[in-house]
Amino acid sequence: MQKIIITGGAGFIGSHVVRRFVKNYPDYNIINLDKLTYAGNLANLRDIENEPNYRFIKGDIVDTGFISKLFEDEQPDAVIHLAAESHVDRSITNPLEFVMTNVVGTVSLLTAARNSWKGRYNGTRFYHVSTDEVYGSLGETGMFTEETAYDPHSPYSASKASSDHFVRAYYDTYGLNTVISNCSNNYGSYHFPEKLIPLAINNIKQNKPVPVYGKGENVRDWLWVEDHARAIDVIFHKAKAGTTYNIGGHNEWKNIDLIRLLCRILDEKLGRSEGESAKLITFVTDRAGHDLRYAIDATKLKNDLGWTPSITFEEGLEKTVDWYLANEDWLNDVTSGHYQQYYNEQYTDR
Ligand code: NAD
Ligand code: DAU
Repeated sequence: MQKIIITGGAGFIGSHVVRRFVKNYPDYNIINLDKLTYAGNLANLRDIENEPNYRFIKGDIVDTGFISKLFEDEQPDAVIHLAAESHVDRSITNPLEFVMTNVVGTVSLLTAARNSWKGRYNGTRFYHVSTDEVYGSLGETGMFTEETAYDPHSPYSASKASSDHFVRAYYDTYGLNTVISNCSNNYGSYHFPEKLIPLAINNIKQNKPVPVYGKGENVRDWLWVEDHARAIDVIFHKAKAGTTYNIGGHNEWKNIDLIRLLCRILDEKLGRSEGESAKLITFVTDRAGHDLRYAIDATKLKNDLGWTPSITFEEGLEKTVDWYLANEDWLNDVTSGHYQQYYNEQYTDR
């Protein structure tokens, strides 16, 4: 039986990874380790929380004493590491928190894994989940490959780049069995509404202004979160130690075009007249250091391991909108309390 610690399992992507592993591998023992920050929510996992192969442990990856004791007690075979501070705007306000969680937290886990596995290579794995933002910003053309040089611009991407370097250093220096994947923008259910797509859905639904940074010309490459979870599953099981894979959907959208599409979908679903939701679009002050364009070349993942996205963006976006409309309680719950304060600070005077 494999025992796997999944960090950040109560977050957006982590909850999809936990669900997939708990359901697809009944003979694995899955431990969800999460601090439950503002972004962590156990309601994301209600449907699997009583499964016999699943356990939740509340804890902070930055707490090295706690983490090393956890590894001694649990003796895990593998780690899938998703816990992070993940929102670029918050990293601009509070970079140190990103260094602590994303850099120190990752090194804390790497150290505990190294001590626990004591050079045992076979049957162990440290899988680090990272982002395409480490590669920086593209111009009008080109794509990120696994060979693209790192060039992070935001405190968030700088902290993720740093954590990737530490993971590689533990492979090169100590022979830890590591794998890294760098994925493009995810979307889907349980996405916290500080991020563009769920924020826009929530605001359109409530007839509130939809804030578009700058002129809305920035391009992101969107991937359905369940396709990301499936890629992580494939890479976890099949990748060679020390390798890196890019994950992406070949699905580039200018922010303004994406928001207009969402407005059209919601006009229809909410029974509004055509063009009504688009009146909510409001151009606001741009994000500092805003990367112009991301695009992932996932050819290596396709050729080596046979992964490709399973659904089109139109299908995925419709599923996502339907999920948010059907899960009003979840949305109301996560947007009450602290969220209001965050929202006011982030968007007032922009
Ligand atoms: P998220 O913000 O939704 O969730 C992060 C989770 O980590 C939360 O459950 C939070 O409680 C937990 N966490 C934070 N600090 C912690 C700590 N100190 N100890 C333990 N748990 C802690 O993030 P997400 O969007 O699901 O992203 C997950 C991972 O995937 C991150 O590493 C992120 O960099 C990476 N990633 C995200 C995207 C994306 O589009 N969202 C794309 C590529 C890569
Ligand atoms: O590329 C992968 C990354 O994608 C992940 O590593 C990050 O964790 C994840 O948050 C995401 O980062 P982005 O900054 O691309 O995502 P976000 O949803 O914050 O913004 C998407 C685009 O929309 C970006 O160009 C900024 C813009 N935007 C965002 C918000 C929140 C707006 O125009 N208005 C907004 O209110």
